[in-house]
Amino acid sequence: MPTRPERGVAMQASSQTIEVEIAARTAADRRHVVFDLVAAEGGDLPPWTAGSHIELRWVSDGQEYVRQYSLCGESFSGPVWRIAVLREKKSRGGSAFLCDQAKVGMRFQARGPRNNFPFVPHRRVTLIGAGIGITPILPMAFEAQAQGCDWRLLYLVCERQDVCLRESLDKLPPERVSYRYTAETGRMNLDEWAGTLGDGDAVFVCGPLRLLDDLVAIHEARPVWKLHLERFENPNKTSAGGDAGFDLVLARSGKTYRVEPGETILDVLRRDGWQLEWSCCEGVCGTCEQVVLQGVPDHRDAVLTPEERQANSHMMICVSRALTPSITLDL
Ligand code: FES
Repeated sequence: MPTRPERGVAMQASSQTIEVEIAARTAADRRHVVFDLVAAEGGDLPPWTAGSHIELRWVSDGQEYVRQYSLCGESFSGPVWRIAVLREKKSRGGSAFLCDQAKVGMRFQARGPRNNFPFVPHRRVTLIGAGIGITPILPMAFEAQAQGCDWRLLYLVCERQDVCLRESLDKLPPERVSYRYTAETGRMNLDEWAGTLGDGDAVFVCGPLRLLDDLVAIHEARPVWKLHLERFENPNKTSAGGDAGFDLVLARSGKTYRVEPGETILDVLRRDGWQLEWSCCEGVCGTCEQVVLQGVPDHRDAVLTPEERQANSHMMICVSRALTPSITLDL
């Protein structure tokens, strides 16, 4: 099964909000823009680890945007955070704003870094970045190189002109980096490729849902190697559990609320003035995670692993509901 870090260790994030400013923007290729962000006040930004993301918040035309971007620089400390933004065809407005309107000097509120997808050294490491999924994967290559791992990086990208972060990729040992241009070669035969993996191999992958789902299925059929993945989209938002209302009990504060169909635990608590951490509201970033003391969650996130779901000890309150008439959280 895919693995995730121990709770409370690698996932710890800075909840401090920092004002950041665009120091540079570069059109990386025809579809991506790379931004270098610095602290508006100057000085170093919080250090980060490979696989981390940050949250950016801004307001445009009266609408608030909250988006998460993987850090994709080459060094893990210093005054600059680098992100790459894909101009999405079906943008909800965030990527279109950044790609088309965000200029040098523009300021944003930033939080993080948070890491749900940390790099862990293994005997042999394969890093796979597909499309914009290259962003958390690239720093892992620098980390793997620094740690002396036996690693390789495979970048799956539609066409040659879609390669993002080329300058950084060119700084890696070329014999360890390969590209697959899917418009030319077609889809990779994952079954055949995964058949070459064995004990001691670990795969870190980020990319579209279909790639990740296929790799999970292949891995479950022959789990002799390790799989670490990060999803940018949540395939689990609907559930057989339906949308029924339930009681929400908060053990430490002694409060009880009703969560009605169509609203989330996070909605209910924010409405009552709770100052909780949240970010994506999509079940992908892990920011809103809470400890479950009683009841069975209806997990609808893309963060927890199957083992963690079975444990029912944590839940993402922006999307997950309850399968029992009530659920008790450690709040
Ligand atoms: S706010 Fe991102 S997972 Fe809930």
